[in-house]
Amino acid sequence: VIRTTREIDGIDWAAAAEVIRLAPLGTRDPARLERAFRNSYVSVFAFDEDTLVGLGRATCDGEFQACIYDVVVLPAYQGQGVGRQVVHELLKCLPVKNIILYAVPGKESFYAKLGFRAMRTAMAQLSPGMSLPEAGYLEAPG
Ligand SMILES: CC(C)(COP(=O)(O)OP(=O)(O)OC[C@H]1O[C@@H](n2cnc3c(N)ncnc32)[C@H](O)[C@@H]1OP(=O)(O)O)[C@@H](O)C(=O)NCCC(=O)NCCS
Repeated sequence: VIRTTREIDGIDWAAAAEVIRLAPLGTRDPARLERAFRNSYVSVFAFDEDTLVGLGRATCDGEFQACIYDVVVLPAYQGQGVGRQVVHELLKCLPVKNIILYAVPGKESFYAKLGFRAMRTAMAQLSPGMSLPEAGYLEAPG
């Protein structure tokens, strides 16, 4: 049985970076990852016994807007409801009704099942890597 916690003290950030790398969602420096999670409004960590198997976080202004980032689950635990559990816990803790995120290309239906809808007018400035056409995040310029 998977338990989730919002307790950030005691998280092994090298293990968290490893969950993200294996998910796969890219490489993260553990110290920067810890700062990003600590600077977020709410963070959720999913454990199987003492093993970190999933995580996610959201930023929020406390009044109107929030944004979800870094939802990942270890491959061996994917498809068992852990991602849904992490997102539900994040949503429960957000005191606002406008919640946005960007899905990894191909993962949109995971969020659609959780009640998210594709946005018509989303606009973004993204880092060079995420701006590459092959990254799949941006519409062609036009
Ligand atoms: C995407 C991810 C977080 C989903 O977590 P998960 O624990 O595997 O998902 P769950 O088991 O909670 O799935 C919840 C629902 O979404 C569906 N779903 C999960 N992953 C999906 C996918 N890749 N494509 C389509 N549907 C998916 C499940 O079938 C399930 O549907 P159901 O309610 O009808 O049973 C996880 O697969 C992952 O870490 N992937 C790699 C990293 C990544 O891409 N993260 C997304 C950031 S946007």
